[in-house]
Amino acid sequence: MERNFSVDRNSEIELRLLIEAIYLKYSYDFRDYSGASIKRRVDHALSQFECNTISALQEKVLHDPAAFMQLLQLLTIPVSEMFRDPSHFLAIRKEVVPLLRTYPSIKIWIAGCSTGEEVYSMAIVLREEGLLDRTIIYATDINPRSLEKARQGIFSMENVRAYTANYQQAGGQSSFADYYTAAYGYAIFDKTLRENVTFADHSLATDSVFSETQLISCRNVLIYFNKSLQGRAFGLFHESLCHRGFLVLGSKETPDFSAFGDQFEPLVKQERIYRKS
Ligand SMILES: C[S@@+](CC[C@H](N)C(=O)[O-])C[C@H]1O[C@@H](n2cnc3c(N)ncnc32)[C@H](O)[C@@H]1O
Repeated sequence: MERNFSVDRNSEIELRLLIEAIYLKYSYDFRDYSGASIKRRVDHALSQFECNTISALQEKVLHDPAAFMQLLQLLTIPVSEMFRDPSHFLAIRKEVVPLLRTYPSIKIWIAGCSTGEEVYSMAIVLREEGLLDRTIIYATDINPRSLEKARQGIFSMENVRAYTANYQQAGGQSSFADYYTAAYGYAIFDKTLRENVTFADHSLATDSVFSETQLISCRNVLIYFNKSLQGRAFGLFHESLCHRGFLVLGSKETPDFSAFGDQFEPLVKQERIYRKS
């Protein structure tokens, strides 16, 4: 019993040291991520890297940038889907688009865009609603590999088949196949969808606001942050959004219990669509 306690305490210390080392060496700041989630990711990394202790993993990533890049893939959870939660995208189309239409030009920030599925989904909705030409999308993430994949816009055909059903449930007005060319098991998405998209490195943990925006989509990112970092992110969103701008979140995320709870009011609560108060 006593022994287990000291093993747990040791790994807690090692975990903090690893996170600190990553911050000092590579400037990626995971210090305010949710403890349980980061611990799960690091446990997984231990087996992937065949390390017995977190200290051994730290030694490896500190001296080998390529190993760090590999660890970053595990820490950032680059999992996404097109038209993820179709009812959310249907609500964007029905409830948000008519209001967005009133702006002469539109800036959208997709924070934590991962490998780009959310960006292409948003671009398709805007194209079908006739708004894409007057929209600039900033798609940001901390993972350079994910951003590169997002820039390429090539997704496996197997996944695209599932995305087709999502697209239809999300109120898609065309045939999903109109948006890509299939080749060798991959779907190469129409590059005109990303003509007005800027993909860029940006961290919600360390960077500041870069533009005024009418809509911010930050989905399935804040769940990995602790309350204090969530508060920082809501602060950035509040600063970036124009008067009555829109904030859209993932299905398990809400500003309600943050210091910004009364700064955002629900437009479609069930779909986590908010407006700056
Ligand atoms: C689970 S994915 C969500 C992808 C997409 N938004 C979606 O809902 O399908 C989480 C993304 O958040 C990104 N991320 C993690 N920490 C971040 C930070 N501090 N700033 C910006 N993005 C971050 C990760 O790199 C990852 O791509």
